[in-house]
Amino acid sequence: MTVAAIVPAAGRGDRLGPGQPKALRTLGGVPMLVHAVRALSRARLVDLVVVAAPPDGVGEVKALLALHDIGAEVLVVAGGAERQDSVARALEALPPAVDVVLVHDAARPLAPSELVDAVAGAVLAGHIAVVPGVPMADTVKRIAPGEPRDGERGPRSELVTETVSRSDLRCIQTPQGFDRAVLAKAHAMADATLTDDAGLVERLGLPVVVVAGSAEAFKITRPIDLLLAEAVLLERRANGAL
Ligand code: CTP
Ligand code: MG
Repeated sequence: MTVAAIVPAAGRGDRLGPGQPKALRTLGGVPMLVHAVRALSRARLVDLVVVAAPPDGVGEVKALLALHDIGAEVLVVAGGAERQDSVARALEALPPAVDVVLVHDAARPLAPSELVDAVAGAVLAGHIAVVPGVPMADTVKRIAPGEPRDGERGPRSELVTETVSRSDLRCIQTPQGFDRAVLAKAHAMADATLTDDAGLVERLGLPVVVVAGSAEAFKITRPIDLLLAEAVLLERRANGAL
């Protein structure tokens, strides 16, 4: 069985603030994308990595990956306008021999290689779609817009309508793993734009299995996430894990 990992890395990183595309910003002096590709290529079960780069940054990403000596075979394609388009383009570039596909956000650069292998292993064991999930830490409430009041300034107030039990909710991470044919069909039949790939498989009515996620697979979305990532890297260095 041949396992490929697709890395959507074409986003701008608007929520992180102005600067380079998010995947090219550095952590511990190394671009986030390089951390993510290294984590995938270190995984025992991954044979090939395909990066969906910012459309105007394909050459830059190729040069960056060559510079950082990744070790695995890496292909680079141009990403699209939405994450889903970027994954679809990378899927089209997969060699025919690939039977299992992982999709892993460049924005989750510190996901452990053990998590990558756990997800790939679950697909190789026969599950057609696998996602890592972690329990939620915060209390979850549903809200609705409050009644507008005369002279109200600023953002419209919100009212709580319900406290949702979080015991059967999970925060879903990447890498997500799929039987290649299932993921290709899910993308070909996509009738909505979603923030993950398993969601498209769910829309086909097919089962998606959850495995234990990892605290270190958190997504870098806002500036404070960079601080946590730098701290994790410092700890890994101190423990000789880098
Ligand atoms: N992504 C992509 N192509 C896009 C948009 C996003 O490949 N058109 C990738 C991002 O590079 C990231 C992953 O999808 O690795 C998850 O997306 P997100 O965290 O939303 O990243 P950005 O879209 O870059 O951030 P923002 O939404 O804040 O702009
Ligand atoms: Mg985004």
